[in-house]
Amino acid sequence: MANNLLQGKKGIIFGALNDQSIAWKTALHAHAQGAELVLTNAPVAMRMGEIHQLAAAVGGAPVIPADATSVEDLDALIRGAMEHFGGPFDFILHSIGMSPNVRKGKHYTDVNYEWYKSTLDVSAISLHKTLATALKHGALKEWGSVVALSYIAAQRIFPDYGDMADAKSLLESVARSFGYHYGVAHKVRINTVSQSPTVTTAGSGVKGFDEFIAYSESMSPLGNADAAACADYCVTLFSDMTRYVTMQNLFHDGGFSNTGVSQEVIGKFA
Ligand SMILES: NC(=O)c1ccc[n+]([C@@H]2O[C@H](COP(=O)([O-])OP(=O)(O)OC[C@H]3O[C@@H](n4cnc5c(N)ncnc54)[C@H](O)[C@@H]3O)[C@@H](O)[C@H]2O)c1
Repeated sequence: MANNLLQGKKGIIFGALNDQSIAWKTALHAHAQGAELVLTNAPVAMRMGEIHQLAAAVGGAPVIPADATSVEDLDALIRGAMEHFGGPFDFILHSIGMSPNVRKGKHYTDVNYEWYKSTLDVSAISLHKTLATALKHGALKEWGSVVALSYIAAQRIFPDYGDMADAKSLLESVARSFGYHYGVAHKVRINTVSQSPTVTTAGSGVKGFDEFIAYSESMSPLGNADAAACADYCVTLFSDMTRYVTMQNLFHDGGFSNTGVSQEVIGKFA
């Protein structure tokens, strides 16, 4: 399904860890629609070397390591991408999330506060740092588009999602606030996509994920959206077809967010 929606467009994809990653699929789909890419991930995430397979599959994209909490790394990444593309570019995918508290099974009411800061820095403030660095370097073209991945725990409590819920609330707020300033200054648009639970390394780190994904499936009229469908949605948001969509949190969840209860779930209580 190549419609060349991103013909002539160039962008950075953060967060492709392995072939399950939402970022991995988005890189493949963006490339199939004509985009040129730069790939990045945290230096520690590159040890397995899988990202280089992706780089080869998307036309030999350069891979520039960057810890998204380090302004210095982000600065080098943005400058490196501009050098590669020969100037400003069109889009950024922020597909980054990690909570040491969730990983180590700390209950929300008993978090380690150093780890809590790390959750917020990696999963949300990194978006602010990326945008501020891009703005400083004039890296994004007018009508450029930035998408960050979120989850509905930003609005509603999902007990095992822990402090990641707070990170997602902050992430969505940064998208809104920076979306205003970047929009006024350079007509750059910024949105978050609130995705269904998806089988990936980050997703599977949440306690009770298998039961939860089944619950979500039975609560979504269309079923859970998978990573490939999410990639397609991100492509539309990078394209010129969505130029006036900005500062939004967009649910990509098969209808889960607007379903109070489904017949299937009610049936389990009969
Ligand atoms: N999987 C789900 O159920 C689900 C649902 C909704 C939203 N999301 C969000 O989608 C995004 C992508 O996650 P995924 O599910 O594809 O999992 P994933 O584990 O494949 O991707 C997470 C990425 O974050 C990167 N990362 C972690 N710390 C970093 C740092 N300091 N600097 C740079 N990169 C760093 C990891 O290396 C990894 O590539 C995350 O924001 C996640 O919260 C996931």
